[in-house]
This record gives sequence, C-alpha cells and structure tokens, in this order.
Amino acid sequence: MPEPAAPSGGPLILGIESSCDETGVGIVRGHQLLANEVASSVEEHIRFGGVVPEVASRAHLEAMVPTLERACAAADIDLTELDGIAVTAGPGLMGALVVGLASAKALAYALDKPLYGVNHLAGHVAVDLLEHGPLPTPCVALLVSGGHTSLLRVDSITSGISELGSTVDDAAGEAYDKVARVLGLPYPGGPHIDRAATGDPAYVAFPRGFSMRKDREQHRFDFSFSGLKTAVARWVEARERDGEEVPLADVAASFQEAVCDVLSAKAMDACAAIGATDLLIGGGVAANGRLRTLLAERSAAHGIALRTPRPGLCTDNGAMIAVLGAEIVSDGARPSSLDIGADSSLPVSRISL
Ligand code: KG4
Ligand code: ZN
Repeated sequence: MPEPAAPSGGPLILGIESSCDETGVGIVRGHQLLANEVASSVEEHIRFGGVVPEVASRAHLEAMVPTLERACAAADIDLTELDGIAVTAGPGLMGALVVGLASAKALAYALDKPLYGVNHLAGHVAVDLLEHGPLPTPCVALLVSGGHTSLLRVDSITSGISELGSTVDDAAGEAYDKVARVLGLPYPGGPHIDRAATGDPAYVAFPRGFSMRKDREQHRFDFSFSGLKTAVARWVEARERDGEEVPLADVAASFQEAVCDVLSAKAMDACAAIGATDLLIGGGVAANGRLRTLLAERSAAHGIALRTPRPGLCTDNGAMIAVLGAEIVSDGARPSSLDIGADSSLPVSRISL
C-alpha cells in the first residue's frame, strides 16, 4: 500500500459519496474546494414518495463515471496527480454504498493511490472546514437530513466525534417529507413546506417531542418526530372530515415551528452542557429558512458562533468526503485496506476504517 504524500497547500484528495440518492464526487486540496459535482436520482424517486434503494443503486452506477469526469474537468486535474481517494463507507443504504466503495477501490488499485474509507456523518461535520476554516473544539454539530437527525460532540474531526443524542424514530427530513404528503405537497417535501409556511406558526400548537421536564433525564438530546407527524395528519383529517378547508400556510408554519423549535432548543442545550461556543449544522434540513433564522437568533442570545455551510455543501456531496479524507491524510493516519466493506449502520465514533 503506497504511503500518502502531502504537498504544500494540503493533500489533493478525491472524495466519493453514494450513501443515499446523490452521487457526489468532490476534489479538494487541503481546505480548498476544487470541484464538487453531484448527480441526484431524486427525480426517479418522486413517484414512489421516497428513496427506493434499488433505484438509487442503479442510478449511482450510471452516474459515477460521468460525475467523476466532470469533477476532474472542473478541478482541472488528472487522476494521476491525486494524493488519495476517500469514500463513504457508511452509514447509508447498503446497495448504494457498495457502488461508491467499489468505484473508489477500483480507482485506488488502478492508480496505485491510498484509499480512505470514511464516515458519512463525520463528512457532514468536516465540510464546514471548506468555508470557515479550522473548527474550535469542543463544538456541537446538529445533523438534520432525510436519513439522520443527531446532535454530536466534536473534539476532533478525525478522531473524536461522539453522539450526544439522535432521533428515536423519524429523521427531521423524513417528518417534512411525510407531512408534505399529508398536505398534498410533492416529494421531497422539505423545500415545499419551507416555501408554503408563510402563515401563523402558533396557529396549531403541535407537540414538541422529548421536550417535557420528564424527558430531560433519558432523552435530553434525543428527538422524536413521529408523534408530530401523526398529530398533523390527525388535525388535517379532522378538518377534512368536517368539510372545512385546510389552511396550508398556517399548518405548514405550525409544523415547521414545532420541528425547528425542538432542534434549536436542544442544540443550545447541548452547547451549554459541554461548554461549546461553536455550533455547526449540516444535512438537507439545514437549508431550511426558519431553522437558520431561529438558530441564528438563539445562538446570538447564548453567545454561540453559528457555522452554517452553504446549502449545496449541507446536502450530501463528495466534497465533504474529500475534505474529511484530506484531514485524515494531514494527520498522517494509515490508509484503509482495499478489503474494507460498506457498513450501513457505521457509528459516528468510527470516523475512518
Ligand atoms: O442531506 P439530504 O440531501 O439527504 C439525506 O437525507 O441524506 O437531505 C434530504 C432531506 C429531505 O428529507 C428534504 O425534504 C429535506 O432534506 N430538505 C429540507 C429542505 N431542503 C431539503 N427540509 C426542510 N427545509 C428545506 N428547505
Ligand atoms: Zn447526509
């Protein structure tokens, strides 16, 4: 296995991401973003109302080489110049992960470059380095997407991430997608609800999961959104049964407020609990307008610096995997074996394999 070289400006790393429905190929030199090409199969899942793993896997297979070629062209590099290849090894959809991992292994073997199998969730944290530079630690990361919702304590991006709490049922994005369906909005529902939520956020007092005093002991940093989703569905059904119109702008705003209130309150509490002065957010739901506003307000009130990567870096992409790989190479860590397998439930504490 070749040892990685780190030229000035940081190592030149290619990152491959394929854990869900986005085929991402990113190229970085240290903390400098050179290319971030993403091919999404979201259109192919719309008629099913959610990601179909088999459809996603096939789409990755078809998109991988063209996306890789676009990334190399955008960065104006040749694959032979790379110092290493990083790839998402988990968590995610097994069949989807395997496509990215097999592609990365093939490249590493053919080009005789070191391979780095890395954790997708840690990638969501690392991507912030591309925009805001070194991360003060300890810090808290709030990851909110269609597949994951968790609060993380970050002591080191390459060797110290632990989970403070996570959702016990639906992810926040999943709740957005399910409620959107109830409200007759298309998949993926998050952006549609975000736009529709122009009404009164206090119109319906929807439940805030795990926010009662009794939850502080066992579920202080955990989330639960399935009760909220059911409450919205029941409320809408009752209205429709009575032959009354459903006030979309008000219901969407009330649902969104319940989600964003809980996410931001728990993020503040997590910062206070570990003495962090920095909070970073990632995942598709981090693009949400109300969540960004509420977090900005509450962070300012608590003296916390909020780090919000631009929406294109919050959703799944290859650059987040590349920059995590670059950090690992800069640390002098050993490359992964070409024998590593994908792990659909890889815990966040295993940052690299
Ligand atoms: O990170 P992501 O692209 O993929 C994974 O799930 O890993 O996140 C997609 C999720 C979907 O559930 C989508 O509805 C949600 O992020 N989302 C949003 C917004 N944009 C995307 N949710 C709320 N507001 C948004 N603006
Ligand atoms: Zn993700």
